[in-house]
Amino acid sequence: WALVVADDDTINLVFDDTNGLGRTFEGIGGISGGGATSKLLVNYPQPLRDQILDYLFLPNFGASLQILKVEIGGDVQSTDGTEASHMHNSWEENYERGYEWWLMLEAKKRNPDIKIYSLPWGFPGWVGQGSSSPYGNTTVLADYVVRWINGAKTHYNITVDYVGIWNERPCNNDYVKVLRKTLNERGFQHTLIVASDNGWEFADGLYGDHELANAVHAVGCHYPGTWSSNSAKYVGKALWASEDYSTFNDEFGAGCWARILNQNYVDGLMTATIAWDLIASYYHNLDFFRDGLMTAVEPWSGHYVVNSPIWVTAHTTQFVSVGWKYLNHTAGVGYLKNGGSYVGLVSPTGNDLTIVIETMTHDHSQCIRPGLPWYTVSPQNVSLNLKGHFSKITKLNLWYSQLSFDGKLSNMFTSMGPVQVVNGMVNLTLGLDQIYTLTTLSGGHKGSHPTPPSSHPFPLPYFDDFEGNNLYNEPNNLAQQTGSFEVLSNGSNKFIRQMVMEWPLSWCGAESVGKAVTVIGDSTWDDLFIEIDFQFPTVNASNGIFVAARINQAGCEMDHSQGVFFFITSDNKYSLTRDSRATDEVTSGNLPSPAHTGWHKISLYVQGSKAYGAFDKRDLFAVDLNVHGSPVPGFAGIGTYNYGLADFDNLHIALTP
Ligand code: GAL
Repeated sequence: WALVVADDDTINLVFDDTNGLGRTFEGIGGISGGGATSKLLVNYPQPLRDQILDYLFLPNFGASLQILKVEIGGDVQSTDGTEASHMHNSWEENYERGYEWWLMLEAKKRNPDIKIYSLPWGFPGWVGQGSSSPYGNTTVLADYVVRWINGAKTHYNITVDYVGIWNERPCNNDYVKVLRKTLNERGFQHTLIVASDNGWEFADGLYGDHELANAVHAVGCHYPGTWSSNSAKYVGKALWASEDYSTFNDEFGAGCWARILNQNYVDGLMTATIAWDLIASYYHNLDFFRDGLMTAVEPWSGHYVVNSPIWVTAHTTQFVSVGWKYLNHTAGVGYLKNGGSYVGLVSPTGNDLTIVIETMTHDHSQCIRPGLPWYTVSPQNVSLNLKGHFSKITKLNLWYSQLSFDGKLSNMFTSMGPVQVVNGMVNLTLGLDQIYTLTTLSGGHKGSHPTPPSSHPFPLPYFDDFEGNNLYNEPNNLAQQTGSFEVLSNGSNKFIRQMVMEWPLSWCGAESVGKAVTVIGDSTWDDLFIEIDFQFPTVNASNGIFVAARINQAGCEMDHSQGVFFFITSDNKYSLTRDSRATDEVTSGNLPSPAHTGWHKISLYVQGSKAYGAFDKRDLFAVDLNVHGSPVPGFAGIGTYNYGLADFDNLHIALTP
């Protein structure tokens, strides 16, 4: 960057509040969920975990996020895992499950003003009341959702500011109205509805339906590609990119994020943009690895990475608060003549001004979706011309980033000190792939913690008796893909239980065969020993349990995984299959002693093309897997044959028995 003298080519950009202002800025946020994206963050050792949370949430430190959007767990696979429902069954409620409560508390601890936004991806089966749609009985659905909002208030004193309908799935407008009514009746008038986390079409239905229009605060669209429909623009509601980004978090991802944070408003008048996901904390080789603002996937080593999207976010969030207003498109918001864009925002008092300029080039700023039409950017001189109340400003503090793509290190979020405003003018030379923030605010801080530990693979041998886990939480490092596994205690001993008893109302169809599976470790594991104690509870038990190695698919493809799956069923039989569906059988037989009561041990060892199984330490089989070619590596895992309760304890994983 450089400050230059204006010449003939200089592009004049006017910032003026005289003729009114644009829309109200409602924040930049991140999504935890949709799903299980924060899974591996939870058991990071301190103080590393706190450090990571600082980079995300602490004001004036890192991303300083203004919105935290969390999944209302529904016991369904929602991309990288399942998140627990607060009501696995209609007759019980529990507000200590999973980690979203904890995450919301950590966010609020750092920034009490952060907005909380919640959205379900799927639902426990009973919510449908016999229907395969959650809208089978809209009163039941609204009750289920508002209980979660009430749980946040009564258990954690967390106010839920926004709630959505059903992620990227059909919206039922009657339900939106019922939800609004139920919220109002139970004292949550302030909890605003964002709908419908899909395309802009929802806006069309607001014309002519006053009750629906009154029910919602904002129209939320996913991956809008900075565009919004005219119908959305004129409907009189706030427009949100309620999910966006989902791009690998290297410099290209940072470029995507920088471009859409500005252009979602310049082009689409969107006043909030929320990144999927907040933090990439799910195992390598699960879907959309590293599509988060930063990365933390090694709780065992403590290694984490503060990726560039964090500093891109800071360019706006550290200098603009929720409630500021954008300037008009004629006087402070627009595209740059030679490519790139700029937005000016003014504080509620009218005294403070922040300008964010980005010059992301096409090939360095493509997001995962939608496609980005071709455009060019070339270096340009601009002259910022401050008018109206801004003509009194005598200096602006400058923050600068240069994204680099040729192996050179990017220069992220650097304070360049104050620049003088001379006769209401500041001149800048803009290069390519740069971000500039110019602000009257004197705050802003590139926070830093000590360099985190270096990266290490998942440690073996591994043992967990679950005593170190909190009650009702998910067991550490076990990334549930279908079903829901919870830490319980019999008073003196902690164990984990698969809790889901019926097919959920699925989000992506991963539950088609109804098995519950949780995976652990490393998707490159090949030869492996895995052993665990299990018990079938006396009521509502699953028909069987399994341990597995080389699980090569998870997420929404969980049902199509291959690997080595060793099942024991409560009718005292065993089988070994090459697939998670338990259809591709290698061997099977009767157990030498019963398994259906009390605790037992199941052990599996896979070595090359051989598999060895034992029950209560007695050898059951030693077989050739008859796989063609070399075995495909994958995660270790445990699970149940079908939905129904099953208990597990003392997980042991090693390279050899
Ligand atoms: C979205 C979805 C997220 C996640 C993301 C991956 O459509 O809502 O849960 O799957 O895609 O890009």
